[in-house]
Amino acid sequence: LSLLKGKDLISSADFQMEQINALFNLSIQLKKEERRIDLGNRVLGLIFSKASTRTRVSFQVAMARLGGQVVDLSLQATQIGRGEPVKDTARVLSRYCDALAIRTYSHEELIEYANWASIPVINALTDLEHPCQALADFLTIKETFGKLKGLTLAYIGDGNNVSNSLILLGAILGVHLRVACPSGFEPSAWVVEKARSLASFDSTLQILNEPVEAVRGANAIYTDVWASMGQEKEQQERKEIFKKFTVDENLFCEASQEAIVLHCLPAHRGEEITDELIESKASKIFHQAENRLHIQQALLASLLGGL
Ligand code: CP
Ligand code: NVA
Repeated sequence: LSLLKGKDLISSADFQMEQINALFNLSIQLKKEERRIDLGNRVLGLIFSKASTRTRVSFQVAMARLGGQVVDLSLQATQIGRGEPVKDTARVLSRYCDALAIRTYSHEELIEYANWASIPVINALTDLEHPCQALADFLTIKETFGKLKGLTLAYIGDGNNVSNSLILLGAILGVHLRVACPSGFEPSAWVVEKARSLASFDSTLQILNEPVEAVRGANAIYTDVWASMGQEKEQQERKEIFKKFTVDENLFCEASQEAIVLHCLPAHRGEEITDELIESKASKIFHQAENRLHIQQALLASLLGGL
């Protein structure tokens, strides 16, 4: 875990399997309150260009539990919203804060922050990836089944930031990924090639256009919104294109008997997933949300060298 000290977390592809397993173990210890870590008043800056409940609050609470603090750098209250260059903001904030968690539209903007900052920069979601979410999701799957290697995760819907991070992290962890998207909404070639190059334990990646083919016999069924933040104008058009991709009881019946259902939230009930499935016994959706707190606490402790 000390390998993570001082590093950035930009992509799910940045991890090695040993680091992820160490993060999972530490998260579970923190969750069970078997371990306490005091970072000694370190400060995390939050720069969020998009709305957030889970990511924002879980980072705030994680820092509080580590004896540190959070500075909320809202775009309106700072010079960021008035267009101060990233290279200036990043260097100034590096002199005040110990790490930055950043949510942007463009992934390149996040990389620019990381290039200019001298402190760890954490991807709190970009249009390309959501690595903190994927860490919490695989922790949830591991807690449920006691293992990850050889399991099958079916992702149904838009080939977006959430699915990209699941594909990359799943490949590293030896999970088989089946992704079903409408034609034209599949994950980008970059993500698919990268995942294939990272694949361990013969894990496989299938990109499909039929939800039922992806779900058949799978251990975990995952979906996310059809229109992500920044795509609000396409919402109506996408509703039509994605209507065969709702995760409902009928589709879920095709999964393995002990299968679980996952969603990063926030959800559009009745669109990508039914209300019944979110509330069903198979749903681990609120465990996922909780695990954001534990995994990010472990991540912050590692990046900030508190171990
Ligand atoms: N899942 C997730 O990242 O949620 P928020 O947008 O509320 O942070
Ligand atoms: N794909 C969604 C995830 C939100 C947590 C979005 O980017 O809006």
